[in-house]
Amino acid sequence: MIIKEAKFLMSNTKVALCPAPTKPEYAFIGRSNVGKSSLINMLTEQKGLAKTSSSPGKTQLINHFLINDTWYLVDLPGYGYAKVSKDARDSWRRMINYYLQHRENLTCVFVLIDSRHEPMQQDLDFLEYLGKTGVPFVIVFTKADKQSAAKTDSTIAAYKRKLLETWEELPRIFLTSAVKRDGRDEILAYIDEVNAQMQQQPDAGDSGNNF
Ligand code: GTP
Ligand code: MG
Repeated sequence: MIIKEAKFLMSNTKVALCPAPTKPEYAFIGRSNVGKSSLINMLTEQKGLAKTSSSPGKTQLINHFLINDTWYLVDLPGYGYAKVSKDARDSWRRMINYYLQHRENLTCVFVLIDSRHEPMQQDLDFLEYLGKTGVPFVIVFTKADKQSAAKTDSTIAAYKRKLLETWEELPRIFLTSAVKRDGRDEILAYIDEVNAQMQQQPDAGDSGNNF
């Protein structure tokens, strides 16, 4: 897919205030500081489109972008930022859960995981939650440039082993680096493929989404 146009539409905390659910939507989520905003900028080739920061917790709202006038890309706030209060964490959870369960055009959630770390319970719990509630998702390992390919492979293998303890099938997995632009073609080709499927069978899909 060639990104001809990527524009920021709006930020808010309520699904009811999100753009009309008339186009397929792909949401990016993961632990705070995992590299969501950087990945979005890399995919869209617009450096400042999603706000990035070296201090975790930068993205606090549901941020909608419109790509090629055909699909929505969403930057969601990160989970697991230790310094936020319990109240803030609870309000994040409510907002995100509501979004994930009620956003009718949500087509796929991209769950970002830092390729440098061994499996983290919080990430595993989140994947489990998506699986149990039937939200379609794929996994994106980030920051592949930060360590050797062998270390990256061992992280991914460890995640696969963990997931196969409870699931029979693995989700689609992508490996990315926002710095080296690794994974860009693969992710955009995947979105293209899913968009094409949606056009052929607008009612199809695991989520039961219908738009
Ligand atoms: P929050 O919105 O705070 O949850 O963070 P985020 O997940 O959007 O992360 P963000 O894109 O702001 O990146 C966090 C930090 O990691 C920044 O300092 C980025 O420059 C850095 N970073 C992100 N992706 C990569 C990558 O692929 N490689 C390297 N080397 N650094 C990265
Ligand atoms: Mg961010």
